[in-house]
Amino acid sequence: MTGSRIIGTGSALPRQIVTNADLAQRVDTSDEWIVARTGIRQRHIAQADETTATLATAAARAALDDAGVEASSIDLIVLATATPDNTFPATATKVQHALGCNGGIAFDVAAVCSGFLYALSVADSLLKTGMAKRALVIGAETFSRILDWDDRTTCVLFGDGAGAVVLDAPAAGDAGKDTPGILGTRLHADGAQHDLLYVDGGPSTTQTVGHVRMKGPEVFRHAVVNLAEVLREVIEDAGISVADIDWVVPHQANARILDATARKLGISPDKVVVTVHAHANTSAASVPLALDTARKDGRIKAGDLVMLEAMGGGFTWGASLIRM
Ligand code: ACO
Repeated sequence: MTGSRIIGTGSALPRQIVTNADLAQRVDTSDEWIVARTGIRQRHIAQADETTATLATAAARAALDDAGVEASSIDLIVLATATPDNTFPATATKVQHALGCNGGIAFDVAAVCSGFLYALSVADSLLKTGMAKRALVIGAETFSRILDWDDRTTCVLFGDGAGAVVLDAPAAGDAGKDTPGILGTRLHADGAQHDLLYVDGGPSTTQTVGHVRMKGPEVFRHAVVNLAEVLREVIEDAGISVADIDWVVPHQANARILDATARKLGISPDKVVVTVHAHANTSAASVPLALDTARKDGRIKAGDLVMLEAMGGGFTWGASLIRM
């Protein structure tokens, strides 16, 4: 059975742009080091009036406009985030209220940078079972709020933002690789790698929010291996070849991870959507933000075969193949 169909995309970024030069005034770093090691040139950073919920709501509204549907038609909101507005309730419920579509299903998913892939898969499953008919799947983060701004090894890497898609349940009778919809997804997690990338706080341990801690070079090595493996799995499941893929929309962690993964699989760099230079790593928001960017600038068109992929803390990782 063909999966649910993406009928609209949207994104939102905080007003304030922080360049590498701006960061160099705060920590011992340089534009040259950051660009050479990561490809990042700038990031958007949320101000006090911008939260995960406000960014998510703006991205959701843009996606609804793009799809040409009313918020009242949404009966499922799945929001991926590691930086919710509050410990509870779920940020998805705040978005639901802001959009004025109360009454349906709304909850958050926590899988950090892979969160959007997890959320998309959960929403697709609920739509396929008939639990809901039309979903908003959102990735939204204010990672700036959990960064240690004195730690140059992490604070230069992340940014804030949100991306969203409107997902429709598959139409009866849909079938085949050419029908628009999610064609296949694989998700994984490995809790043994907790200490390589985590936040050193939380309600049940320290009663503080905590800060991002990361062993960057080790994360890098795992990312390239895990992403190449999961991409191969999805390609094999779908019975396609690498050459059939029109666009890869990866999680935007680091330009070098994107290059190394594409090289490992023999994917042409021209087919990889890159936004890390402008947005940095926006965690769960990065995949839908990049997808929306490439749709709105005309690169990704209806009928294209698009591979989404991500890896993040946990570790968690996954990939999803979609006919647009
Ligand atoms: N500015 C200047 N120098 C720095 C900075 C900085 N911002 N950060 C670290 N350095 C220094 C280090 O202290 C070290 O100095 P030393 O040699 O005197 O000890 C030197 O630069 C090299 O540090 P490394 O950590 O070995 O640098 P590396 O080339 O591995 O790059 C990076 C670090 C960019 C973090 C890389 O390992 C990486 O991208 N890892 C992947 C992590 C990632 O992207 N995580 C995001 C979340 S997970 C995900 O999304 C997949």
